[in-house]
Amino acid sequence: MKSFKAFWVFFYIVHHSFFLKVDGAESLVPALYVFGDSSVDAGNNNNLHTHAKANVPPYGIDFNNNAAGRFTNGKTFADLIAIKLGLPLQPPYLGISDSKRYQVITGINYASGACGILNDTRDGECLSLDKQIEYFTSTVVNDLPKHKHLKSKDELKHHLSKSIYLISIGSNDYFLNYLNPQIRSYKNMNPEEFADYLLEQLSSKIKTIYNLGARKFVVGTVNQVGCSPNLYCNETINQMVKPCSDKLLMKVQEMEKQFSGSMFVSSNGFNFFNKIKNDPKKYGFANISKSCIQEGIPCANRKEHYFWDFGHITEAAVDIYANECFSGSKMCFPDVKKLAHADL
Ligand SMILES: *[C@@H]1O[C@H](CO)[C@@H](O)[C@H](O)[C@H]1NC(C)=O
Ligand SMILES: *[C@@H]1O[C@H](CO)[C@@H](O)[C@H](O)[C@H]1NC(C)=O
Ligand SMILES: *[C@@H]1O[C@H](CO)[C@@H](O)[C@H](O)[C@H]1NC(C)=O
Repeated sequence: MKSFKAFWVFFYIVHHSFFLKVDGAESLVPALYVFGDSSVDAGNNNNLHTHAKANVPPYGIDFNNNAAGRFTNGKTFADLIAIKLGLPLQPPYLGISDSKRYQVITGINYASGACGILNDTRDGECLSLDKQIEYFTSTVVNDLPKHKHLKSKDELKHHLSKSIYLISIGSNDYFLNYLNPQIRSYKNMNPEEFADYLLEQLSSKIKTIYNLGARKFVVGTVNQVGCSPNLYCNETINQMVKPCSDKLLMKVQEMEKQFSGSMFVSSNGFNFFNKIKNDPKKYGFANISKSCIQEGIPCANRKEHYFWDFGHITEAAVDIYANECFSGSKMCFPDVKKLAHADL
């Protein structure tokens, strides 16, 4: 825990002073705000009562050997997008003390492993999307206005509307909720209906973020929940999840129309795995069916493994996805670079 905090302080100071000097000129957008589940959690769960934590080795083995709470061996999708935008990595909200929060104006990470879009999706203590948005509201209302560069209403408005909001959440709404035989709440809905319900809920929560001043969004939902290592691949499960992936693009285009002056990127992790599955060698993977961690020991050839643990992917896999998403063709539409440059 101590080393985790110390690392962040170090990282923050190094990058922060750099960005203060250039006054944001080096980054494409002022900040990246991150919401979601373990796909992008940067350590919020370290501070919660849950077994869904990634703060022990071998997690973080390729993140300076720092098990900071990322559910992978290295950087997450959010980290890689931040770097491409020219921003420092976003610290976890719960890892920054109350009195320091106003100093962080290049973005904060609210994501929390084992949580979902729905309030009742959880495994142990975690930050539901509602809770994450509540914390973000506090950032906007209580913290940011204290910063010397964001004191006026116009400065704050500019900061919020030019920044990017990355939301990566939804797999747990299937894995821990809809597909969980012990939870009956949504069993009366067929997969199409559940996907519609989930995306409608997501949209109403994003509206809250929009109403606070956000305009530029990147939204990703489910991955191939049926394809965790050793399950490789349960197509019955994938077919139940697929409607959520299929409907995402239409839903974000609908939001873009509804929320005037907004721009949305749809990020499709479900389709990404199809692409890898069809030709793993092309992407440098020798092994896309087994976890890299076996009996607590990480594999040596982590760049050739798609899966890192029982369900999360390696940095090597995330890296390909982030490259495609930032300036590639199909995984994200439109790409994040266009979003960053858009003059809304
Ligand atoms: C989730 O919880 C929040 C806060 O407790 C509440 O405002 C919201 O209505 C809840 N949403 C649903 C779908 O139950
Ligand atoms: C796939 O998942 C379904 C639903 O949980 C289950 O009934 C089925 O047995 C699984 N199939 C295989 C091959 O594991
Ligand atoms: C995949 O990786 C696992 C774990 O490192 C290993 O046991 C297995 O032999 C590998 N399979 C192939 C085909 O390389």
